[in-house]
Amino acid sequence: MNFKSEMNEKKLYIDSELDRFIPAESEYPQIIFKAMRYSVFAGGKRVRPIILLASCELFGGDVDKAVPFACAMEMIHTYSLIHDDLPAIDNDNFRRGRLTNHKAFGENIAILAGDALLSHAFEVMSKAVADNPEPALAKAMYTIANGAGVNGMLTGQVVDVISDGKKLNKETLDFIHINKTAAMIQASFKAGAYIGGGTQEDAEKLSMAGCKIGMAFQIQDDILDVTGSFEELGKPVFSDERNQKTTYVTLIGLDKSKEKVKTLSDEAIDILKNYGDKAGFLIELTKKLIDRKK
Ligand code: IPE
Ligand code: IPE
Ligand code: MG
Ligand code: MG
Ligand code: MG
Repeated sequence: MNFKSEMNEKKLYIDSELDRFIPAESEYPQIIFKAMRYSVFAGGKRVRPIILLASCELFGGDVDKAVPFACAMEMIHTYSLIHDDLPAIDNDNFRRGRLTNHKAFGENIAILAGDALLSHAFEVMSKAVADNPEPALAKAMYTIANGAGVNGMLTGQVVDVISDGKKLNKETLDFIHINKTAAMIQASFKAGAYIGGGTQEDAEKLSMAGCKIGMAFQIQDDILDVTGSFEELGKPVFSDERNQKTTYVTLIGLDKSKEKVKTLSDEAIDILKNYGDKAGFLIELTKKLIDRKK
C-alpha cells in the first residue's frame, strides 16, 4: 500500500472508532456530547493516533488491540487543544477550521468538554485493559497517562503559560517543547511499541525518535504561526506574538528554525532506520511533517 492510502486508511479507522467510543449527541445531557464531538470531529490530522497504530504494526502487532489507546490519545490531545484555546490560556477563536469550543458552547461547557474527553480517554483505556488484562496494555495506559500529565504535556503547558511576556533561554524553551508537545508524541510511539510486542529497548528507542519528532513538530507549529495562513491551518496566525511567547522563531530566526526541524527529523529517521523496511511508513510520515503546511 502506498503512503497516502495507508494514512487515509488509518485516519478513517480512527475516526470510525472515535465515533463508536464517544456517546451520541442524542444522549442526555446532549450539550456535553455535542461539545465533545464538535472538537473531536472538526478535522484534526490524527498524527498521534496514527503514530500509535503504526508503531504497533512495526512489531507485527494487531491494530484492533491498539485502537482504543489510539482513540484515547486523540481524546486527550483534543482536550488539551480545547483548554489551550480558552481565554485564560491562549485566547484563540478558531481551531480546526471552526470556532473554538468556548466560542461555540461558552466557557463553562468548553472546560467541561475538555474534562469529559480526558476522563473518557481513561474510561476507554481502562475498559480495554480490564477486558484483556495483558501487561503490555497496562503499560501502554501508564505511558499515555505519563505523557499527558505532570511529567509531560500538562507541565509543558504550565511553563508555557507562566512564561508569557518573558524572554526565555533555549533550555527553558526546549523544556516547554519537550513536555507540551513531544511527550504526547513519544507516548504514542512507546504505547504502540508495547502493544505491538516490542521490547523495553524498542519502546525506549522509539520514544527517543518521538522526542525528536515532537520537538520538530512544535518548532514547525511555531514557524507556521508566522508563515502559515488561517485558511490552511484552520487556526489563527500570530497567536504566539499576541501572547508574547518566546518561540524558536523569535529566539533563532526563521531560517535556523527550519534547519532545526530538518536536523531533528533526520536524527529521528536515523533511529527508525534500525527497523529496516518495516519502518517505511513512519519514516515517510516523519519526512512529510518536516514541511507540513498545517
Ligand atoms: C496542535 O497539534 C498543537 C500542537 C501540539 C502543536 P496538531 O497540529 O496535531 O493539531 P490537530 O490535531 O491536527 O488539529
Ligand atoms: C499547545 O501549543 C500545545 C498543546 C499541548 C495544546 P500551541 O499553543 O502552540 O498550539 P496551537 O498553536 O494553539 O495549536
Ligand atoms: Mg498554547
Ligand atoms: Mg495555542
Ligand atoms: Mg502554536
